[in-house]
Amino acid sequence: MKIAIMGGSLRKGSLNLRLLGHIARSIMALGPKVRIASGHELRIPLYDADAPPPHEAVALHNLLTDSQALVIVSPEYNAGIPAHLKNAVDWVSTMTPTPFRGLPVLLASASPGAFGGARAQMQWRATLANLGAIALPGGITVPLADRNLDADGVPLDPRTAAEVQKALAAFLDLTGKLAARP
Ligand SMILES: Cc1cc2nc3c(=O)[nH]c(=O)nc-3n(C[C@H](O)[C@H](O)[C@H](O)COP(=O)(O)O)c2cc1C
Repeated sequence: MKIAIMGGSLRKGSLNLRLLGHIARSIMALGPKVRIASGHELRIPLYDADAPPPHEAVALHNLLTDSQALVIVSPEYNAGIPAHLKNAVDWVSTMTPTPFRGLPVLLASASPGAFGGARAQMQWRATLANLGAIALPGGITVPLADRNLDADGVPLDPRTAAEVQKALAAFLDLTGKLAARP
């Protein structure tokens, strides 16, 4: 099973990128292969219907088309989706075949704030529903992440750490069930 993970902010010290690393290692420990799109791979020129898809968008489309599931590790900007991630998804949504229809998606977010990026996830759910993707009902949120993530992206709070593992198990279970369908 191949799982794509996209996310993190564009800054070097991204808390979400740190969380992404922990999620990637946790998934690999459970068996599936993981491929990551982050950093410069998500620094894509703004969507322009008059321009051909940039090579980064083509690469992301190829990655998603060749994956059975997607994890999005998204910061929250002004209670919503950061522009670089929405732009990446918008580009891929214009390309065929669509990788999103029926694709299981796990949402994860980390924020120094008390909501842990939950409001960005609400926007993601609307976008993913529009694309026909299947978002797992329970996402991963890491509140107070500037104090609650170690250097490897592992939550220091045992309850949050356990919730990450529980969400990953539920996500891989859903992905396996969808992949097994004729
Ligand atoms: C433009 C902007 C808007 C932000 N709005 C929110 C917000 O609505 N909710 C929140 O929890 N954090 C907000 N933040 C704080 C981010 O959660 C914080 O900078 C976080 O560390 C960004 O993710 P990163 O560490 O992966 O870069 C905002 C940050 C920026 C730069």
